[in-house]
Formats: sequence, structure tokens, C-alpha cells
Amino acid sequence: MRHYSILEYARFRWFKIAGALSALAAAVYLWHDPPIEPYGGTWLGYTLGTIGTLLILWLLWYGVRKRRYRSNVGTVQGWLSAHVYLGTALVVVATLHTGFQLGWNIHTLAYVLMLLVVASGFYGVFVYLRVPRAMTENLGEDTLESILLRVGDLDREMREKALSLPDTLFALVDRSVSGTRLGGSVARLVSGRDRDCPTAAAVREWSGLARRLTGDVAKLDKEVFSLLLQKNELLARARRDLRHKAILDLWLYVHVPLALALLAALTAHVISVFIYW
Ligand code: HEM
Ligand code: HEM
Repeated sequence: MRHYSILEYARFRWFKIAGALSALAAAVYLWHDPPIEPYGGTWLGYTLGTIGTLLILWLLWYGVRKRRYRSNVGTVQGWLSAHVYLGTALVVVATLHTGFQLGWNIHTLAYVLMLLVVASGFYGVFVYLRVPRAMTENLGEDTLESILLRVGDLDREMREKALSLPDTLFALVDRSVSGTRLGGSVARLVSGRDRDCPTAAAVREWSGLARRLTGDVAKLDKEVFSLLLQKNELLARARRDLRHKAILDLWLYVHVPLALALLAALTAHVISVFIYW
């Protein structure tokens, strides 16, 4: 079965609704002919401002809806599709509300925050559409847990075999076994790399140290090195998986605080407008 993305949900239902809302707002804006320059204070300005505010409150509500797994009001997919398209239509509604009158004030702060929330939302959609596929490609039939179990098996086998190798080589294996580390700082999670990985270091230094070995030891050395390479490969995949999970989560730490800042600025905007009316 073909997999439908949130953008195509219900044959672009929310795309059409959001498009119609934007077109309607633009048509009324062009049609209405206020005695002075259009701005937020005309009847249309108030109407569009109210619609924009309702949209923002509804978009914020998505954070609550997302966590109500037992709700029967629509599917999570449908809500997200609506969130994305109506969030985009909000830009049209709010821009027409301002009558293109922007300045250095609290009103424009709300407007700029709104644009930033929407921009981060677009980035989120980009991430949601791209990362899951990269995740399946990286993991294949495996899971992070099964990869870690295999790393454990390799560790045991490698260490046992390395006992008969020269001390320098055993030390490399030992450091790889005892120093395995995944994740940690945000930078390490997002880059998917660890420059101090003892396994990668062992792979780099191995051939230099193993060059002069002969006979049975040389054979054993090849076996252990091959295990080391397998482990290195598994660690790279595990780090890539953690990286993908981090990318899926991290942008929300921008989107949500900006959305809350928008709510604060919007409240200030509406209150100040009514005070100085
Ligand atoms: C109930 C909702 C709203 C009401 C009653 C309202 C009211 C107003 C009024 C009366 C003005 C004209 C102020 C003036 O020029 O003296 C205005 C301007 C403006 N509004 Fe709103 N508004 C609402 C929602 C919004 C929303 C959702 C945004 C965007 C996030 C927004 C952004 C702006 C901006 C940027 C201006 C232009 C300020 C300027 O002239 O420098 N407003 N609003
Ligand atoms: C002012 C407009 C917007 C507000 C106030 C807003 C607010 C929110 C909130 C509160 C959440 C819930 C986050 C959570 O609790 O995990 C969310 C999630 C999300 N938003 Fe927005 N948003 C806005 C616009 C947009 C736009 C325009 C897009 C896309 C173009 C977008 C894409 C997303 C995505 C992809 C999620 C994550 C969905 C999920 O994890 O299920 N947002 N947004």
C-alpha cells in the first residue's frame, strides 16, 4: 500500500480549506475600501485579527490534542495536516490584518514571532518527511536494542581472542570494550560522531601495530581485527540512529517556546490595542 504523507491527507482536504480561507481573506481585503489606509483597526482589521488569534489558539491546542490518545475527534494525522496548512494560512490572515503596517513595536514583535514559529514548523515538516526513511535505511531489520546486543557479543568474543595477542593489541581491544559510549552531549548526538571513540581509534592504530605478526598469531590478529571492524560499523549505525531521533525531537524545542512567546506577545498586543483605543 502506498504511504500517504500528512501533506496529502484526505486528498489535500486541509490544503484546500486553507487555500480557500487565504483566498477569501485576500478577496475581502482587496474589495473593502476603508476611508484611510488599511490597518488592524478597521472592521476587516478586527475580523482578520480575531480569526488570526483563534487560529493561533487552535494551533497551540495541538500540543494538548497530540497527547490525548483516547480522543475520538479526528486522527492525529488529520490534526497534523490541518495544523500545517492552517498554520500557513495564518500568515496570509495576519499579514492582511496588519494592512502591511509594520514598525518597531510590540505588535510587530508578535508578527515576527509568528513568522518564526511558522518557519520552524516548515523545517519540522521537512524533517518528518525525510528522517523516517533514512532511519529505516540505516536500521534495516535491526533495532537499536538488537544492535547493542550484537555489540555486547562482539565485545565478549573479541576480548577472549585478544588475550593471546601482544599486549599493545590487547590494550586496544580492552579500551574499545570498556570505553564504548553512545550519545552524551547534544553536539555528539546531532553530529552522530564521537571523535574520542576508542573503537575507531583501535581500528586506526591496528595495522601499524600488527604489521610484524606471523603464523598463528597473525591469523588470530586478522580475526580480532575483523570483529573490531564489525563493532565499529555497528557503532556507526547506532550513532546514526540516535542522531535521527535527536533531529526528530530537537526542532520542537524551538517551535514550542517560540509559540509560547508568540502567545505572550499577542496577549500584550491585544491588551495594548484595547487600552490605547
Ligand atoms: C483579537 C485579535 C486582534 C486584535 C483585536 C487586533 C487589533 C489590532 C489593531 C486595532 C491594530 C491597529 C493598531 C494601530 O495601528 O494603532 C493592530 C495592528 C497590528 N496587529 Fe493586531 N490584532 C489582533 C490580532 C493580531 C494577530 C494575531 C497578529 C499577528 C500575529 C497581529 C499583529 C498586528 C500587527 C503587526 C499590527 C500592525 C502594527 C503597526 O501598525 O505597527 N494582530 N491590531
Ligand atoms: C503560529 C503558528 C503555530 C503554532 C502556535 C504552533 C504550535 C505548535 C504546538 C503547540 C505544537 C505541539 C508540540 C508538542 O507539544 O509536541 C506544534 C507541533 C508541530 N507543528 Fe506547529 N505551530 C504553528 C505553526 C506551524 C506550521 C505553519 C507548521 C508547518 C508548516 C507546523 C508544524 C508542526 C509540526 C510538524 C509539529 C509536530 C507534530 C507532532 O510531533 O505530532 N506548525 N506546533
